Amino acid sequence: MSVQEYLDKHLLSRKIEDAVNAAVRAKTPDPVLFISNHMKKAVPSAITKIKARQILDSRGIPTVEVDLYTNKGMYRASVPSGASTGMYEAVEMRDGEKGKYLGKGVSKAVKIINEKISEALIGMDPVLQSQIDQAMMGLDKTENKAELGANAMLAVSIAACKAGAAEKEVPLYKHIADLSGKSNPILPVPAITVISGGKHAGNNLAVQEIMILPVGASNFEEAMQMGCETYQHLKAIILERNGSNGCNVGNDVGFAPNISSIAEGLDLVKEAIDRAGYNGRIKLAIDVAATDFCMGKKYDLDFKTPNKSGQNFKTGEDMLEMYTQLCKEYPIVSIEQPFDKDDWEHTKLFTNLGICQVVGDDLLMSNPKRIERAMHESTCNALLLKVNQVGTVTEAIEVVKQAKNADWGVIISHRSGETEDSFIADLAVGLATGQIKAGAPCHGERLAKYNQLLRIEEELGAEATYSGENWRQP
Ligand code: PGA
Ligand code: ZN
Repeated sequence: MSVQEYLDKHLLSRKIEDAVNAAVRAKTPDPVLFISNHMKKAVPSAITKIKARQILDSRGIPTVEVDLYTNKGMYRASVPSGASTGMYEAVEMRDGEKGKYLGKGVSKAVKIINEKISEALIGMDPVLQSQIDQAMMGLDKTENKAELGANAMLAVSIAACKAGAAEKEVPLYKHIADLSGKSNPILPVPAITVISGGKHAGNNLAVQEIMILPVGASNFEEAMQMGCETYQHLKAIILERNGSNGCNVGNDVGFAPNISSIAEGLDLVKEAIDRAGYNGRIKLAIDVAATDFCMGKKYDLDFKTPNKSGQNFKTGEDMLEMYTQLCKEYPIVSIEQPFDKDDWEHTKLFTNLGICQVVGDDLLMSNPKRIERAMHESTCNALLLKVNQVGTVTEAIEVVKQAKNADWGVIISHRSGETEDSFIADLAVGLATGQIKAGAPCHGERLAKYNQLLRIEEELGAEATYSGENWRQP
């Protein structure tokens, strides 16, 4: 090919002339930078390369990370993983090779991305999220993503979403809002974990988490200030009462003093809120994660206490009474997974009392069919959305829409095993869920989400709305 033929084939002279003219029209002080940006915009929007690797989550357990390249740049995403996994959620692909990371390696998932998924997606436009997700689902063909692995698919799906936003030159939350057909972004109320128990911590407390919700803050930044101050006051109180051992933390970085009753934990938190001066402006939430201590049809609140475990079983009715009493004594506005994942009956009875938000975690497993049933039977009235239980961004958006259409509360949730990826912050804002659960205001993987929300609020400036008192239906 001659030089002239090459220039003609790529319409180079015309494109360069256009760029120079545009720079002159704009009278830009840095024409070279302007021209290079102008030219970049003319490049087709396409995925050019996908490279996955195994990294480690906040517990030192392997997880999947993806670098997705387009003509514009490289976009990185990684996936979280949790303690509660169930048969109704999308399958997390693990190697199962006992000699390596105790079977938890993800090299198979990495290989699937680098070979199968990459081959299918290269050349696709990252702006078209649902087409990308559909292409992966087409490759998988199973209902629970067992063939490719939900961890493999989600990492690619999130990376593509970030690339799509960059391609459109809009913030990630804005791109997500567009994908969902919703246009007003809202900063969520953070459900900040302050006390950890259950499977997340080594103390005797059966209940997994006590959270604080700064619903009375006027904006997200103030909500974090209130949350952080309360967290620090709580640390001082625990230090006084339980000694420095009490300040050890659980997976999601709540303090794990060696208390054995939920009321004891709530008292500590109530005092911390008092000391911080936020009485009335901070509400409480608990995640019971009751599936972890349900034996048959009974609940063992002493399941972690040596010599007491198995001796004081509670019935569903006992538990229901306990929650009703706790809601009278403390400003509790939300209780997550109060009964076993298959205890539809008691969950419904409790929801029907209308005392507080009742959140389905294991009950729903972010599974559309379980959500449908819970809606039909009025079993609970809020969804805890864990993106890795779903497997793609498109389906996560659909599930949130499903819940919102039924006037449910929606909480976008982290997992106990997290990474530095802050995607769920943008997801919560873009989908205007009104609530996010991302752990304590401590440790990088938790703060990655909260700090991103601070940045988003700053960027939105006067247009920023904090869900605050409207946390359930923003
Ligand atoms: P998990 O816990 O990530 O360990 O499952 C999170 C939650 O129950 O909310
Ligand atoms: Zn939970």
